[in-house]
Amino acid sequence: MKITFLQHSCFYIESGDARIMIDPFYDYTGFPCTPTHVIVTHAHADHVGNAVQLCKDSQAKFISTYEIVNWMKEQGYENTHDMGIGGFVDFGAFRMKFTHATHSSSIDGIHSVGTAAGVVLHLGGKTLYHAGDTGVFGDMRMIGERDKPDIAFLPIGGNYTMDIEDAVYATGLIKPKKVIPMHYNTFPVIAADAQAFAKQMPAGTECVIFAPGESKEFG
Ligand code: NI
Ligand code: MN
Repeated sequence: MKITFLQHSCFYIESGDARIMIDPFYDYTGFPCTPTHVIVTHAHADHVGNAVQLCKDSQAKFISTYEIVNWMKEQGYENTHDMGIGGFVDFGAFRMKFTHATHSSSIDGIHSVGTAAGVVLHLGGKTLYHAGDTGVFGDMRMIGERDKPDIAFLPIGGNYTMDIEDAVYATGLIKPKKVIPMHYNTFPVIAADAQAFAKQMPAGTECVIFAPGESKEFG
């Protein structure tokens, strides 16, 4: 499995026949790609990003919560799948479910659209948990116990989401084998030191820090 970090909370995950883009907020011209699926955790602009153009160019299946998918249809894109927070859906090359996230979801910064969510993905024999934007919440322990993520993608930038202190606590609840920090340093208000986060990992969890644009293989 190859994971590329574009920036912020945007990751491109390639495994077998699946090429999954999560929260496509990145320089669209700088990373040409052909995702099979585009997953958006919530409607904020720093997560929807360039999803409309990316989907129209790639014809990827757009996956999000119900109202966000309906918004996407209003933009003229029909190859979609809407889901709620709940059970796994099988997309062939992978299975996924949306989980709870403690956050908001608005398309223009004012009007709520859909709900904020995290994502649990089963693909390539691994379980990934992308927490979206969220504060820490106690049911992260349940996600850890039930889904046993191999890799967790957690926001650490504070202000809008967990800060380092809470993300360290969240890591202890989830107990992933690896944790990838995200949603930091994109803007001054979410400045954070990923190395400081990495130094506080509980036993059994390795912190993997990506530079923007970097790819890493996970065997
Ligand atoms: Ni947000
Ligand atoms: Mn955000």
